[in-house]
Amino acid sequence: MPPQVSNGETDELFTVTADYLRKRLTPELSQPKVAIICGSGLGGLVDTLEETDKVEFLYEEIPGFVSSTVPGHAGKLAFGLLGENKMPTVIMVGRFHFYEGYNLNQITFPIRIFKLLGVEILIVTGAAGSLREEFATGDIGVLSDHISIPGFSGINPLIGPNLTTFGPRFPALSDAYDYDLRVKAFKAARKLNFTTGSIKEAIYCFLGGPSYETRAEARFLNSMGGDVVGMSTVPEIIVAKHCGIKVLGLILVTNQVIRNKAKSADPMDYQQMMNYQDEKPVNHEEVIALGVLKALDMKNLIKTIIELI
Ligand code: HPA
Repeated sequence: MPPQVSNGETDELFTVTADYLRKRLTPELSQPKVAIICGSGLGGLVDTLEETDKVEFLYEEIPGFVSSTVPGHAGKLAFGLLGENKMPTVIMVGRFHFYEGYNLNQITFPIRIFKLLGVEILIVTGAAGSLREEFATGDIGVLSDHISIPGFSGINPLIGPNLTTFGPRFPALSDAYDYDLRVKAFKAARKLNFTTGSIKEAIYCFLGGPSYETRAEARFLNSMGGDVVGMSTVPEIIVAKHCGIKVLGLILVTNQVIRNKAKSADPMDYQQMMNYQDEKPVNHEEVIALGVLKALDMKNLIKTIIELI
């Protein structure tokens, strides 16, 4: 039974896990510069690593790691060299979510392991729903900021004793999304001839899930400045920023979030009532399917960004 991660964990468990991985890797792979977290349906990113040098660990084998319980999120950590510049990289295939019942310390545990291994850049990917017409299904959002709704009510991965070896008690998040990396993302998209408008900056609203948002919640998020909404990425980003890792957030818009008022139709007006039936509620299978469909674009984008680093 691996040691359990809980609120108030000590530096010791992080060291145990980092040593566990280091001992099983060649010196070249044991000091990755880039870490990538694959979101829903985007696990194929792991294929960008050179096969010959790849080393994989199942989450169950790694001390302190929990398991991913979500369909579409396999659970393994892969180390390898990525792109023409052979960037030493670690990829999380499958991530942990708040809605799985894990606490935020468990969810963000890998980030501090990455820090101890020497990671300087974290690329977080994920699926998200669109809160605006401009963000079409299939578009890619380069995160420029976020709104953490759980954060408003005291749910934050940094709550508890501060681990000063990793970072300050009160870290700033006003520059959480590294500007140079965002520029590189757009340079890479241009290089790959992505259609204009299919990739743009986005403000991400984080909700705990697992239920998708109501129409009224979606209107609220839209009116407060959110572009897209999802159930991941933000806890990892907060912990990465706390320990001085540069962050790039890339999301794939997998669906449109229904925002119109449910009860504005005249119930006696047959045509208006029929129009409602046109709006199909979001479902997880479609979110995954879209991820799989666009995985190649995301994969090429990340590979090209890394070649620009
Ligand atoms: N809402 C929240 N999370 C999501 C969505 C959504 O519409 N799509 C993909 N992840």
